[in-house]
Formats: sequence, structure tokens, C-alpha cells
Amino acid sequence: MSEKKPWAGRFSEPTDAFVEAFTASVAFDQRLAPQDIRGSIAHATMLARQGILSEAERDAIVQGLEEILARIEAGEFEWSVALEDVHMNIEATLTERIGEAGKKLHTGRSRNDQVATDIRLWLRDEIAALRAELRRLREALLDLAENEAETIMPGFTHLQTAQPVTFGHHLMAWFEMLERDDSRLRDCARRLNWMPLGAAALAGTTFPIDREYTAQLLGFEGPCRNSLDAVSDRDFAIEFAAAASVLMMHLSRMSEELIIWSSAQFGFITLSDSFCTGSSIMPQKKNPDVPELIRGKSGRVFGHLMALLTLMKSQPLAYNKDNQEDKEPLFDIADNLRGSLKVFADMVPAISPNRDRMREAALQGFATATDLADYLVRKGLPFRDAHEVVGKSVAYCVERQCDLADLSLEELQRFSDLIDRDVFDYLTLEGSVAARDHIGGTAPRRVRQAITGARQRLAAET
Ligand code: ARG
Repeated sequence: MSEKKPWAGRFSEPTDAFVEAFTASVAFDQRLAPQDIRGSIAHATMLARQGILSEAERDAIVQGLEEILARIEAGEFEWSVALEDVHMNIEATLTERIGEAGKKLHTGRSRNDQVATDIRLWLRDEIAALRAELRRLREALLDLAENEAETIMPGFTHLQTAQPVTFGHHLMAWFEMLERDDSRLRDCARRLNWMPLGAAALAGTTFPIDREYTAQLLGFEGPCRNSLDAVSDRDFAIEFAAAASVLMMHLSRMSEELIIWSSAQFGFITLSDSFCTGSSIMPQKKNPDVPELIRGKSGRVFGHLMALLTLMKSQPLAYNKDNQEDKEPLFDIADNLRGSLKVFADMVPAISPNRDRMREAALQGFATATDLADYLVRKGLPFRDAHEVVGKSVAYCVERQCDLADLSLEELQRFSDLIDRDVFDYLTLEGSVAARDHIGGTAPRRVRQAITGARQRLAAET
């Protein structure tokens, strides 16, 4: 293959060998080959329809590109660093194979609008694949939440026992976060789906192109409205990185809870062996490596978001070579996010809750103290006074190392004469959760309703 630079006409000295390697992107942007070829086929099809290329030239180009794609997919394509990037590698090989027609493919186009189009096509497909994994995870959470709608665990604030909640309710909190993440990804895909092709280097082209037609061939909403904007902005990549960061932040929080819950001290869940690893020195160990790694990967995704923002912030219009640096972070975000979602979706069904342990934990730490206060309020005591009464009873229990429910009626009545035998209905865990019976509350009945609503929204999702 000729490794002659397309710009050789203007240059009298060859590229410095190190500069050539330094400026090349083919090592990583070859990943865009399928999108690059798809875009070129659409471009050539449009050129022929407009009479800019002959039909024979178009056919030669399309056939040549299809053969090249097959070779790339078979791993038989030889990539050349001297040809810098995926675009010039493919074009040079095409010309080598089909001759003159190959040289005409770049009519009315630049690598600037070409690469901007390729990334958008790639990211559009990638987001669809990510959303499919995310959906699998959300479905797995709904199944688990359904099984655990009545399972009682301590709910925490400050990681201190606060009030009893149902495990299903806790899982549905995760589901809510992930539903918003999905809508962020969907928005991002919708906003990026505009076609840069036709912007050429920056100002458009003098050829009578039909951008609407090319956009239609490539499944874009339409052509980008401004050529300078089309080739230069990578806000869609930043937006994706932001949505991915929020999603990774959620996965990291969920991971953190799985890690805590599977510790011997909590023992709320057991993670099946297939998602854990052992220690090379401590024979007793079973470590929750998968959630730990996801928690760790959130950091690198946040880092990429910062890299992309910084990459963009000082670029004058229009295209600058800085933009070549957008690809590796973008690919790394997508790969790590995809892997994290996949493994999380596989892991959720491998979570077995230890219901007895959760219940036991909910019985410690005065989880029903607020219920006692609410009870007193219903008997006519102002809430602040009730708070004080219960505070004193808790202090009494702490001294005696017992729970509120362990106190006798007599003992309880020492703190308020409004307390009656029926108080014990409110001090039970079941009574406590069932009483929180409103939209968004932890009552098992409401959790089931929330799951039904979630399933309906999932079914209607686009
Ligand atoms: N490899 C380049 C990139 O990723 C392609 C566009 C190069 N354009 C240019 N005028 N040097 O952005």
C-alpha cells in the first residue's frame, strides 16, 4: 500500500519519525472502522445521486469498502501508522484496490466531519447496548425486590440504625436511581443524533451535496445546522461521560452496600462464590471483589469526564487536533461501564438475603423509637414532647442493655401515662413498616405497588 501522505503535495520534507508515531491515532481509532465505512458508503451513495460521482464509481467504492470491512473483521487488514488514522488507512487501501474511483471518495468531505460523524454513529450504537445491559440489571432488581417486599431490615441514616424498612423498598430505591440514569442516556442519544457530514473541514463544501439524504441513510435526525459547530464540538461526548459518571456513582454506592452487607459483622446477604474471590494467604477469606472493582472503576470514569471537559474548554472554533484525544476516554468509559453493568446484572440474582440476620439487626438500635413517638402524638402529646419522652426511654434501655419492646408496660408508663397496652402493636417491626403506607413508603403493600408501576414503565420504555 502506498504510505504517501495525502498532504505530500504541500510538503518538501518527510514527517519526523517520532512525530509520525506521536500524532497517529490508528492504534485506537481503528475501532471506528465499521462506522467509518458506513459513513463513507452513505457519502458515496449521496454523491452519485447528486451526479458528483458516476454510478460505476459508486459501485466500485461500495464494493471495495465492503471487502475492506470484511477483511478488518477477519483481522486480516494491515494498519499502517504512517497513514495516521482509521480514515486514511481505509481510503488508501480502497484506492489501492479500486484505483481512480477511490481517490474521489473524499470529494466534498474532510476528516473533520468524517470523524465527528464516526464517533456519533459509534456512541449511538454503544448507548443502545449500554441501555440493554442497564435494563437487564433493572429487571433483576425488580425480581429481587418482589421476593423481598416483606423482608425487614434496619434502615440507616449516618450508617446508624434509623427505622425499619423493607429490603424490597431499599432495592426499589436503587431502581429509581437507575431509571433516571437510563433516561439520561436516552436524552444523550437523542441530542447526539445529528449528522456532521457536509460540514467538510469547517465551512461546508462547494459541491451540490444533499445532506438530508445522507442523514436519512445513516439514521440521523437530520444534518447539523452549523458547519463550524458540527466539526468542533464534542459536547455529546462530555454529556455521555457525565451520564456515565452518574451511573457509575450509583453502581459504586450499590457496590458499597453489597460490600458492607456481606461482611461478617452485618451478614445481611451472601454473595454467591462465583462473584467472589479468595485470599492467597488467609484461607478463611471470601472477598466481594466484583462490587469492589466496580466501586473502583467509578473513579476512572469520573477522571475521563474531567479529561473531556478540559480537552474542550480552550479550543477556538472550529476543529483542532486536540479532539483526537476524545476517543480513548470515550472508549474506556463505554467499556468499563458496559462491563460493570453486565456483571452487576449477573450478580443480582446471585445475592441471597439472610432474612433472619436482617431482622435481628433491625431489632437492635431502637429502630421503632419514632413509632413510639408517633404513638404518643396520636394520643395527644405534641411531637417535641413525645420526642423527649422516647429519648428518655431509650436512654433507660441503653443503661439496661435492652430494646424498647423488651420493656414492660409498667416501665413504659413511667415515661408517660398516655402509654397503654396497645403500644406493643407499634413497637413491632411489622407494625412499623406496615404503618408507612403512602406513596413512596416502605409498607410491603406500597413496595409491591411500586414494583408494578416500575414494570409498566419498563414495558413502555423506548
Ligand atoms: N484523527 C483525527 C481525529 O481523531 C481525525 C481528524 C483529523 N483532522 C485533521 N485535520 N488533522 O480527530
